[in-house]
Amino acid sequence: MADARRLFFALWPDPLLRANIAHAARGVARASGVEGLRMLDEKLHLTLAFLGDVEAEDEPKALAAAAALKADAFDLVLDQAGSFYRSKVLWLGASETPRALAALALGLRAALDAQGLAYDRKALAPHVTCYRDIKKGVRPLFLSQPMPWAVRHFVLVHSVGGQYHVVSQWPLQNAPV
Ligand code: 2AM
Repeated sequence: MADARRLFFALWPDPLLRANIAHAARGVARASGVEGLRMLDEKLHLTLAFLGDVEAEDEPKALAAAAALKADAFDLVLDQAGSFYRSKVLWLGASETPRALAALALGLRAALDAQGLAYDRKALAPHVTCYRDIKKGVRPLFLSQPMPWAVRHFVLVHSVGGQYHVVSQWPLQNAPV
């Protein structure tokens, strides 16, 4: 695995949305008395498919899978916060998963299958992790100010040394007007 890189596909918020997500998450953490490691703003994202360690020779397959995909753009509304007990994360998420988001994740996974690439097959639970290693959970709650997210592209991310680097991005089609 000497030449392997840790990769995942994700939705990548723009800087303004990131700042808003971070602000809302801080509010939830404060109000719920949750302590943990806050994710840096520039790392906030929504994972579509986690590939884990990919050999250098297989990386072109990940790019080919994304390039082969025809998926529609959509608008997502982040309106919820909650936590996963097992992974000890506090997240922001959407109470409604747009059909096009589910189709994007499924299409991407099918394209990865077609390329023979492995990925974590857990069902999509769309969320943006905002705190890790939290000491207690929070009940799911609705945000007082839901955040619209106009999703127009998706990205491939390289995770190394605790940092995330966008490797490449692909546009989504037929943006809602
Ligand atoms: P999380 O935010 O719920 O921890 C990079 O690790 C991203 O991939 C994170 O968003 C993480 O989810 C997600 N991910 C999905 N499956 C993973 C796995 N098996 N191991 C590590 N990260 C995973």
